[in-house]
Amino acid sequence: MRVPIVAGNWKMNTTVGEAVELVREMLRELDKLDNVEKVICPSFISLAAVGEIIKGSSIKLGAQNMHFEDQGAYTGEISPVMLVDLCEFVIIGHSERRQFFNETGEIVNKKVRAALRVGLKPILCIGERLAENEAGRTQEVVTEQLNSALAEVDSLDGITIAYEPVWAIGTGKSATGGQANETIGHIRQKIANLYDNVIARNLRILYGGSVTTDNIAEFVKQPEIDGALVGGASLKAGEFLSIVKQTAEIKGNL
Ligand code: PGA
Repeated sequence: MRVPIVAGNWKMNTTVGEAVELVREMLRELDKLDNVEKVICPSFISLAAVGEIIKGSSIKLGAQNMHFEDQGAYTGEISPVMLVDLCEFVIIGHSERRQFFNETGEIVNKKVRAALRVGLKPILCIGERLAENEAGRTQEVVTEQLNSALAEVDSLDGITIAYEPVWAIGTGKSATGGQANETIGHIRQKIANLYDNVIARNLRILYGGSVTTDNIAEFVKQPEIDGALVGGASLKAGEFLSIVKQTAEIKGNL
């Protein structure tokens, strides 16, 4: 049985003060929700403050990105060894990183390997762009992204994959549950080919892209989908709580 997981990606939002306020607002209720792993990913500068507040709770912390080197002359960057004291998870290869910061498959692969090396749990994001989707290339694109991100990665222990169609991120235009389930099923099959059936069966694969309290059920009802990576809706305490709660209830009942 795969434990479902819901991660909130706060992106470049909230000051430290606002982050503290937001996590305080959801802390008590979120802490109580069982049978689901809950991760929040504030900006780097809020990690320490948010980490203090959730200490001793069942809520886990993640970063949104990192460099692949442990240290060095990389002005403005944050390294895996800096993060590992602060948080458990790290989002890697988010489409906004690929699109706006020129992250290639090779860079994503270096980051995945660096995260695993220090004991951080990567949430590896993959997904096709609109034109690729319209050209019927979704499966080909996610396969390519998987192959490059996981090159020389021997074990998937600690890895979660998030399938996020780029055209669905922040657009209010989500995939359907059926579409997402089909692509995630394909991803799982590719993992079985690259590794083996047991590893594929145990790997958690999330959907992301305009997930809300109104559509989360459609996704987590699908057998292949193990939860969600939530952007915009994770910035509203009530919405995020409802998304996590529905996930736990629906997956608990499957
Ligand atoms: P969204 O973002 O929920 O705002 O579409 C999802 C993501 O980028 O992970």
